[in-house]
Amino acid sequence: MHSFLSRLNTLFAFTISVLAVLTIGVFISTYFEKYHETVSIGVNKPIVKHMTDYSANRKKNDLGVLQLNLDMNLNQLFDWNVKVLFLYLIAEYVTPTNSLNQVVLWDKIIRRGENARIYLHDIATKYYFWDDGENLRSNNVTLSLAWNIIPNAGRLLHVPANGSTSFIFSDQYTTSRAASPKSSS
Ligand SMILES: *[C@@H]1O[C@H](CO)[C@@H](O)[C@H](O)[C@H]1NC(C)=O
Ligand SMILES: *[C@@H]1O[C@H](CO)[C@@H](O)[C@H](O)[C@H]1NC(C)=O
Repeated sequence: MHSFLSRLNTLFAFTISVLAVLTIGVFISTYFEKYHETVSIGVNKPIVKHMTDYSANRKKNDLGVLQLNLDMNLNQLFDWNVKVLFLYLIAEYVTPTNSLNQVVLWDKIIRRGENARIYLHDIATKYYFWDDGENLRSNNVTLSLAWNIIPNAGRLLHVPANGSTSFIFSDQYTTSRAASPKSSS
């Protein structure tokens, strides 16, 4: 009886150890994977409007408006330890008061089993591109994509994508509501 229980106990401990080793194995086998991928980001019709930002200081701030082209195939990123990809597109620019401004313009969650081939043409940004002042005109903005990887085991990874794009906003505000740069002059 005693030896049966101790054997059971040993078996139980062994099972736990095997599970732990397997989990660590999953972790180690993907730990050094960089999950890098090259993406293509394009910008169409960037304009700046000068509008009241009711969500913030209720002052007139600069609002950047642009269309995005995104082309990427992230299906290879889904190895067996990747549960979810969280993609986000960030606009970065410099202003006199901040050496780095970052605004998230778009994001997307891709779960395992979903198609990670993304081809989006001339889409509007998902979130508003507000500056907290009046610093977008003539400014150089860099758009880059990054993803968080939520794994089955191990730590959450943050990976910047290979491929970014820069553009310069017009030095003029676009006033009419539906105007494109062509009709705004
Ligand atoms: C805009 O900024 C990017 C990133 O810093 C830089 O590579 C690019 O040359 C800049 N473009 C202009 C026209 O200054
Ligand atoms: C990043 O993308 C460029 C352009 O497609 C390519 O030449 C380069 O090899 C890529 N770098 C990596 C690390 O994948």
